[in-house]
Amino acid sequence: MTKAAAQFVGPLTFETLSGKPVAEDLWDPKMRLPHISLRKNKDLIVIAPATANIIAKAANGIADDLVSSTLLARECPLMLCPAMNVQMWRNAATVRNIQTLKGDGVLFSGPEAGSQACGDVGEGRLREPVQILEDIEAFFTPPILSGKKVLMTAGPTFEPFDPVRGITNGSSGRQAAAIAAAAVRAGAEVTIVSGPVAVPYPDKAAVIPVQQAQEMFEAVKKELAEHTPDAFIGVAAVGDWRPAKYSESKLKKEKDQDTLTIKLVKNPDILSYVGHSGICSVVIGFAAETDNLAENARKKLDCKAADMIVVNPASAIGSAQNQASFVTKDGIVVKGRSSKAELAEEIIETLADLLKKKEIETYETSN
Ligand code: C5P
Repeated sequence: MTKAAAQFVGPLTFETLSGKPVAEDLWDPKMRLPHISLRKNKDLIVIAPATANIIAKAANGIADDLVSSTLLARECPLMLCPAMNVQMWRNAATVRNIQTLKGDGVLFSGPEAGSQACGDVGEGRLREPVQILEDIEAFFTPPILSGKKVLMTAGPTFEPFDPVRGITNGSSGRQAAAIAAAAVRAGAEVTIVSGPVAVPYPDKAAVIPVQQAQEMFEAVKKELAEHTPDAFIGVAAVGDWRPAKYSESKLKKEKDQDTLTIKLVKNPDILSYVGHSGICSVVIGFAAETDNLAENARKKLDCKAADMIVVNPASAIGSAQNQASFVTKDGIVVKGRSSKAELAEEIIETLADLLKKKEIETYETSN
């Protein structure tokens, strides 16, 4: 921590919350050459928040405290997360320093625009910590999907039968959000056609919000036609049926009425449409099953013309954990119980492998 940082948060607070020692002093008698020992065996140095002062020092090689000296002595990449008043951010000196640092290959996370602690409004706000973490994770993720376009469906669908009611399901969109984040980190251009969800999708993903399966289908067809995605991942829990009729007025309960019959009609199968269209090189679907998981997934692989079905027990819907198996035409790979984020990483790695395989096959058939 710099002296200025210690004015905002006490080093003891940092030490207690992180469970790690806090280094502050270039001349600490307990540490021999702390700026040299701190820079050893590091993969990345992140300064968050990075003030105009530390940015100026980093740009000009000034080393007059422990943080700036460590930066000068570093052997690894540096990521700065600027945080300062909008006028300080716009000042010609800061603009020059940022240009210099970018030229030196220094990475930046933020800043954001918005209201500032001093009351001003504009650029210079520290990026949200979760987004800084996303940038750090992206730095460490090999860009295995670089240049690839990934189209996804996500969340539940909502099929209304009157202005206040409808048929939906318990899909939270969590697994889709985790897959989208992993795909973005891997360098893909991601578009998500999503039913109503509360989870946040990654900033860098384009989101097309929809309600009904029919709208989801139209949005997917438009994306296929306009952008020719390389891969499609159908994560949405698409309602198989929708009410045949929609009542403009709220359906009233009649006296002595014990049942309500709603006639349902079949929705289009989006995954099957995409699979059979042959537009995407790789098509991945999901199957939430209660019985005969592997057998049902194999059937789905064929009838939906998919390259892989990720099959999980129906109990995974809405939960933070998942336990899945990957079914392809080569067989079944059973995955252990994992978080949805871990499973998402594995799906993206497998997608990259399947895309590579398809490219080789296409090359071999055309030669
Ligand atoms: O047929 P089933 O619902 O079990 O298949 C699940 C897979 O098919 C999921 O990937 C889901 O997104 C997709 N699906 C679809 N359109 C439907 C029904 C399912 O895209 N109408």
